[in-house]
Amino acid sequence: MKIRIFSNEDSLAAALARGIVARLQKQPRLVLGLATGRTPLPLYRALAALHDRGASDYAQATTFNLDEFVGLDPSHPGSYRAYMREQLFKHVNLAPRRIHFLDGLAPDLGAGCARFESSVLKAGGIDLQILGIGANGHIGFNEPAPVLSPWSHRVKLTLASRKANAGFFDGKLRDVPREALSMGVATIMHARSIVLMATGREKADVIEKTVTGPVTTRVPASLLQLHHDVEIWLDESAASKLRREGLVAGRGGRLHER
Ligand code: PGA
Repeated sequence: MKIRIFSNEDSLAAALARGIVARLQKQPRLVLGLATGRTPLPLYRALAALHDRGASDYAQATTFNLDEFVGLDPSHPGSYRAYMREQLFKHVNLAPRRIHFLDGLAPDLGAGCARFESSVLKAGGIDLQILGIGANGHIGFNEPAPVLSPWSHRVKLTLASRKANAGFFDGKLRDVPREALSMGVATIMHARSIVLMATGREKADVIEKTVTGPVTTRVPASLLQLHHDVEIWLDESAASKLRREGLVAGRGGRLHER
């Protein structure tokens, strides 16, 4: 896996935003897979700032979001649609028809997931998938389990995942939906390239497992070891366990391979 370590989350976000904008310039029809949560917030801020300075053009780009809650109206501030609108979409010139979400309000959720997968195929596949990681190793809402669903599907959320999202519901756990829709691990692994971002000390253990542990559905992110073009972007805190064990040496975002 390729690992890049930055001194803090802002330098990580700034470098990743510059990388995304450079890719957009080379490939205006870029298909981006996007993530929500706390981790990518500085990335979206950096992308919005670059756009504000006229550095980027999203007119022909397409996006697919990793996951969405079941049963929340897109206008609900806790929905991932609302998150994306606030954090990125209202700041850039993406065409609304090229923005894709799993439809948590579809009368038939399974058929909605199948439609989402067809849209990914029709767009030519995802060029760059941005991922966060749960402290338990989940990617999207693919939670640790004996078996994983390959394609987009409905999931019952773990208490840990609901707690992690409570911040987007005014801290009220009871308001966090119990179910969500998520890209599957195959949807994610079919992306041509993947950047997993992790920041903060609470991600250090799971990053060590993801990078050095066995490939197991008990740590869904460990499956990324099987992907041919994945980079793990970390701040010093999330990299602290790898550092302590002498497993990585790079600094300042330099690429470290292991
Ligand atoms: P976080 O979530 O960025 O809020 O830590 C990441 C994830 O659960 O994928």
